[in-house]
Amino acid sequence: MKTLCGTGALMANPLRCLTIAISILAAASQGRAQIAPLIQDLAARSTVSLDGQWQVIVDPYDVGAFDYRGQPLKNNAAFYKNFKPQSKSEWVEYDFDTSGHLNVPGDWNTQRESLLFYEGSVWYKRSFDYVKSANKRVFLHFGAANYTASVYLNGEELGRHEGGFTPFDFEITDRVRPTGNFLILRVNDARAKENVPTVNTDWWNYGGITRPVTLVEVPETFIQDYSVQFEKGSIHQVKGWLQLNGPQLRQSVTIRIPEAKLSKTFETDDTGRVEFSFAADLTPWSPTEPKLYSVELSSAADHVVDRIGFRSISVRGTDILLNGKPIFLRGISIHEEAATRAGRAWSEDDARTLLLWAKELGCNFVRLAHYPHSEAMVRMADEMGVLVWEEVPVYWTIQWENPETLQNAKNQLSELITRDHNRAALIIYSVANETPISEPRNKFLSQLIQLAHSSDPTRLVSAALQAEESEAGNRLSVRLNDPIANELDVMGNNEYIGWYVHRISDLDVTDFTSRYDKPLIMSEFGADALFGNHGDAQTRWTEEYQESLYMHQVAMLRRIPFLRGTTPWVLKDFRSPRRTLPGIEDYFNRKGLVSDHGEKKKAFFVLQQFYRESQNTQTPQ
Ligand code: GCU
Repeated sequence: MKTLCGTGALMANPLRCLTIAISILAAASQGRAQIAPLIQDLAARSTVSLDGQWQVIVDPYDVGAFDYRGQPLKNNAAFYKNFKPQSKSEWVEYDFDTSGHLNVPGDWNTQRESLLFYEGSVWYKRSFDYVKSANKRVFLHFGAANYTASVYLNGEELGRHEGGFTPFDFEITDRVRPTGNFLILRVNDARAKENVPTVNTDWWNYGGITRPVTLVEVPETFIQDYSVQFEKGSIHQVKGWLQLNGPQLRQSVTIRIPEAKLSKTFETDDTGRVEFSFAADLTPWSPTEPKLYSVELSSAADHVVDRIGFRSISVRGTDILLNGKPIFLRGISIHEEAATRAGRAWSEDDARTLLLWAKELGCNFVRLAHYPHSEAMVRMADEMGVLVWEEVPVYWTIQWENPETLQNAKNQLSELITRDHNRAALIIYSVANETPISEPRNKFLSQLIQLAHSSDPTRLVSAALQAEESEAGNRLSVRLNDPIANELDVMGNNEYIGWYVHRISDLDVTDFTSRYDKPLIMSEFGADALFGNHGDAQTRWTEEYQESLYMHQVAMLRRIPFLRGTTPWVLKDFRSPRRTLPGIEDYFNRKGLVSDHGEKKKAFFVLQQFYRESQNTQTPQ
């Protein structure tokens, strides 16, 4: 296949493409498939869902992959062989057919009590028949699997993916059979220092195949990827590109926007790519009018229809401009946990409920923390008119000097950008959260910032930083001084004044200043409260304490002249292994404005009031 990875990605991440090229050659020499380029807009394709009950084997000692000497298994003892004893005396020590089931998509932790704290390997098996149409290619698409996934089809390895929150594909055109296919995954979520995220997080390490699994059929030469957006800073010019994948790379392609009576035809080059730009009279997408257009992309054999909004996002000094006008981002931080049940969220319904709660708060913006949430969430934000901050899990103390850790972080960022770059709602890529300043850290983050800017120049790049404090007489001075902010378009800052540091009343004497002429989003602030736990405003863990903290935070935020958004921590109480206080936390972080049972705490209404008052303002003053 000529195109090894989307040319956008090629320019943005030559090392990754080189790695892919080398691994494709290596894989090919070992008869193994390899991670294929991500296919854009699955929803518009002919697909078959493989979701449902999968057979599983829980394998804490990885006996399905390694022998007792720790050597990789290649014989029938390897679980991916799905081998059955051929005679009564044959030794086979595993059996998918009698080992139980788990739902896919779904984390394993909340499906079985015994797996709540489980970290390690689980083997998944799914059998299926598939009659491939003539002159078509078939891909296996995974929305996500946490943390690593080794994938096997019919007893042969397809490849391995690392990173628990981004999609991956494998081409199985020459491997799929009409009947009796068995797809096996070894999913492992063991934490390790060199991983992204690393060993320490304040969220539950949900393991499993956490998002949908799909068979996708496309023509031999198909439209693999495209970008159709307003040119940066314009609301009159569309700029974009299209990438073909297959034998016929040089051909005519057409972009149609029927509702705007637009139809443009272009010629792709030898690499199957075309860049285009044309004037267009389109209604800009915004939270108040989330206008999506049906955009049709056609080539000789392929036809894709996507729902795309057109908007421009940029900064000017301390202002964030949406469609050229200053905007204040009234937001909330969200973890990817289902609203009305335990465990990872993944569906449209999950997304709709969480975003409806955010809208009830008065939000026009959400921070999806601390890792890429599902595509369903970003597409729902497109539909519902909610602006989005997405983040890669470069969280706390990553191994900054480990080149594989850097490559891993880059891969996750590239996969996120490839998946969501046509979503109008998505305005900010965040490359990190609360990372301690050091030279190796600065170098690491700088490379991610460059990757985001070069892969997608239409969006803004940020990071959740931690400003430094100093006493100034009887006032508290907090200054944004982090050197990395120099390379960011928007500064994010996490502060817990009144909870982890200082008293609530100290917020009344707190002043934020900045070394940079850039907009600030206060990306985290908050306090823990157990729903229904009442007392006076000085008593921690009560709703009254949290309510009081929000009141003083809001008053302090109003005094920050360069503040252009807030995403308090956090919409809903969420599971965390770091939260052990019995009767209060019980392994939940209780900083939600809504409890894990959907009950609104008093502070919910303080923020709602603040957002009501900031409805039509560019600044919260
Ligand atoms: C941190 C961190 C969050 C964490 C929160 C808290 O700032 O970014 O992931 O949950 O603080 O302590 O509640």
